[in-house]
Amino acid sequence: MPSSRIRTLANPVTFTLDGERLQAERGEPLAAALVAAGKTTIARSPKFHRPRGPACMRGACDGCLARVDDAPNVMTCLVPAEDGVAVVTQNRLGPRDADLLRMTDWFFPEGMNHHELFAGVPGIQTIMQGFARRVAGLGKLPLEPAAPRPASRRRADVVVVGAGPAGMAVAARLARADRAVEVLDDQLTPGGGITALAAEDAAAFEPISAAFASGVASGAIRVRSRTTAGAVYGRDLLVAGEEGAEIVEARALVLACGAHDGALAFEGNDVPNVMSARAAGWLLSRGVLVGERIVVVVPDGGGPFGESFARAARVASARAEVTVLHGEPLAVRGSGRAKGVRVRTATKERAVDADAVLVDAARSPAFELCQQAGAALVHAPRGFVVRTDDGRIADGVWATGEVCGLPFDPHALDAHAALVATQIAT
Ligand code: FES
Repeated sequence: MPSSRIRTLANPVTFTLDGERLQAERGEPLAAALVAAGKTTIARSPKFHRPRGPACMRGACDGCLARVDDAPNVMTCLVPAEDGVAVVTQNRLGPRDADLLRMTDWFFPEGMNHHELFAGVPGIQTIMQGFARRVAGLGKLPLEPAAPRPASRRRADVVVVGAGPAGMAVAARLARADRAVEVLDDQLTPGGGITALAAEDAAAFEPISAAFASGVASGAIRVRSRTTAGAVYGRDLLVAGEEGAEIVEARALVLACGAHDGALAFEGNDVPNVMSARAAGWLLSRGVLVGERIVVVVPDGGGPFGESFARAARVASARAEVTVLHGEPLAVRGSGRAKGVRVRTATKERAVDADAVLVDAARSPAFELCQQAGAALVHAPRGFVVRTDDGRIADGVWATGEVCGLPFDPHALDAHAALVATQIAT
């Protein structure tokens, strides 16, 4: 079990995975507790039943999907651990680690289109289609229908989407200008990428974090975690949270949506224990180390999370052996979990054994809401970037932070936040 906890649980709770009792820190994401317990194969791909594990820890991959308290397809990285929660893996036949339906992958190594399989062969076609229908899809419906949740419409002064450093910086500045600021974030706690950095790297963001905390303490900033900004329709923002759905019309809407982990195409990039360096750093800051022999791959344009993770892991655990390679990941060895990785560096190709492979690729701006609001986009190698100088992207709507192509740097983020806040406040 190479992944482990490096801190004693302060407030332990007990939950179950397929009936097995496991411990978690109260309130930490269930996926973090599963990784800490070495349960890294949680989900299965829908068709070939390839094993999947948590890769992003921020609700952006499908590696942590499970049935939680009878609700199917729950992202366990976004659900806080509580006593008695029942997590059940889904989309498998037989044991979790040895899903018998994985045979599909071995029988069809070149891929398979089940619509064409035995098409036109009387009898067999019908059997195959019936089988495909039974094994397709993810999860089963809940035993009881969910009660409808309320929906409402309201107005707000300033709404900031995203509680990473860019959102925190603009919220803090607007709070100081006596605006009533709501910050929406789909994670369990605010902080974004700051919380994935080693302590000495996170310290550079301290002025932003402190100003934000002071705005929250004074009541000028209201933070709503586990709340998703789903869509923008003109000046209307669709918001979905624990309490239900809302349409919020804000006098000023600031989209600080950050960036997605960079996803690179290489063999084995979906194997459990291959994850983003940001996710591993985030786990480490919560006391979970993802392996003992860890390789961090930093391709061109990547950073800062890989190097930061390596620094933090070496301090946190004398057992952790962390190798940082600057180059391109070519292939991961292992199918149930990562056993090694081949990397092309500037000078040569290297094959290194590993029980966890972290990739710190250039992040891709999370431009989607900005585009809905009317932002112009430019295409860069890492993805679509919102094109704006002063942050304004539509009447009453601004964008700031990595989504606009700014570096993950406290000074650059705060300077742009100041530009946006000044326009809104005046
Ligand atoms: S969606 Fe949960 S780990 Fe990626």
